[in-house]
Amino acid sequence: MEKSFNGKLVLLTAGPTYEPIDPVRFIGNHSTGKMGYALAECFAQHGAKVRLVAGPTALQAVHKSIEVTPVTTADEMYQVVQQFAAAADIVVFAAAVADYKPKVVADKKIKKDGSELTIELVKNVDIAAAFGKQKREGQFSVGFALETNDEDLNARQKLEKKNLDMIVLNSLNDPGAGFRHDTNKITIIERDTTTAFELKQKQEVAQDIVNLILERLHV
Ligand code: CTP
Repeated sequence: MEKSFNGKLVLLTAGPTYEPIDPVRFIGNHSTGKMGYALAECFAQHGAKVRLVAGPTALQAVHKSIEVTPVTTADEMYQVVQQFAAAADIVVFAAAVADYKPKVVADKKIKKDGSELTIELVKNVDIAAAFGKQKREGQFSVGFALETNDEDLNARQKLEKKNLDMIVLNSLNDPGAGFRHDTNKITIIERDTTTAFELKQKQEVAQDIVNLILERLHV
């Protein structure tokens, strides 16, 4: 019988988060959500029901087994993940969550009345780490890491810190990998294994990730 995710619930975060500064400005990043959406389609094609918690993106889910909950900020993404996490069999953190948010959000547009402007930032909740603390037996979690140096070591530390089963490492040293590209070159790091892949289209990268998760869940 072909390996599948029939009957499995996958919870997936994708895209950037936007952290408001005032009613017209925000702190964000260049994530397009492509990797997360490609993963959602791939899981759905393999029989899973997918709950996709997506930050602001122009993308649309195609497969009918994907249910999208749109969010804007890290706090909103966290709330939705908390709501769905207990029921999920597999949780994938593909979102590029803003690490910091403005400490106060101005209720009126900030005027340019000084030569300098200082915005105080506070750390956002770490959605993956919070889930790692409450993960139960049988749940499988996957995170992403984008590193520029000491890639393997940094990724392994994140695997431990966030109690992940797998971390997908994109190196910024690889041309064609990461933000605003249709291609990606990944290395998948697990506690006892490291698997390196070639530069590929994001759909194919998603397939590689999903295949490895299938293998791990059907040993
Ligand atoms: N993540 C999350 N919530 C956050 C920050 C990150 O869920 N507030 C998840 C991401 O979705 C990704 C992984 O954690 O799966 C990335 O880890 P992180 O430590 O944020 O990576 P970097 O941003 O690369 O961290 P650093 O800048 O510390 O290297």
